[in-house]
Amino acid sequence: MKGILVLLWLCLQAIFTTGFSEDWTAQVVPEMKALVESCVVVPCTSNYPGKKESASRIRGIWHKKDNKKINIYHEDSTLISDNFKGRTKLPGHLGAPDHNCTLEIDEVKDHDNGPYCFRAELIEADKFSFVEKCVLFTMIQRPDPPEVQEPETLEEGVPTTLKCIVKHTCPSLPPLSPGVIKMVK
Ligand SMILES: *[C@@H]1O[C@H](CO)[C@@H](O)[C@H](O)[C@H]1NC(C)=O
Repeated sequence: MKGILVLLWLCLQAIFTTGFSEDWTAQVVPEMKALVESCVVVPCTSNYPGKKESASRIRGIWHKKDNKKINIYHEDSTLISDNFKGRTKLPGHLGAPDHNCTLEIDEVKDHDNGPYCFRAELIEADKFSFVEKCVLFTMIQRPDPPEVQEPETLEEGVPTTLKCIVKHTCPSLPPLSPGVIKMVK
């Protein structure tokens, strides 16, 4: 019964946030793994009041949760903390209709774990902080080992395909293909 109520509440919540609400909202993945020396992309989308704001009127900022003055991304690069200068970008389109606040951090460092929060400001209008929409990274030093899917049977003299799968966090710099493996019997 409790489960059904929770589900109902979630559905109503979804209807209100997508349909009728004029409140500012943002959806940020709360926790992610980040591979040191690689890059990490944090999916983020937001909704603004008066939904038609163009990108030029919206300022998207990512800052440290425990110190709003430490920006890790800002459109004015002089306002970005030295540690993050030149390493962060918003690869998506912040304006309508996308409202994409996705954050990319390049050359991830050991101490980049966060948490970091997205904040949007509507220029010349109400300012609002999405202080609760933050992401925390678990730093990993080396990628998970690749998973190799072997075919059930291998036949001598018959070419076969082995599938090799790796998980990664950096779409702009995906792992290089290992190429052809030669098998010697
Ligand atoms: C946001 O932008 C990023 C980078 O261009 C893209 O990969 C992602 O799919 C976009 N997200 C949405 C919900 O459109």
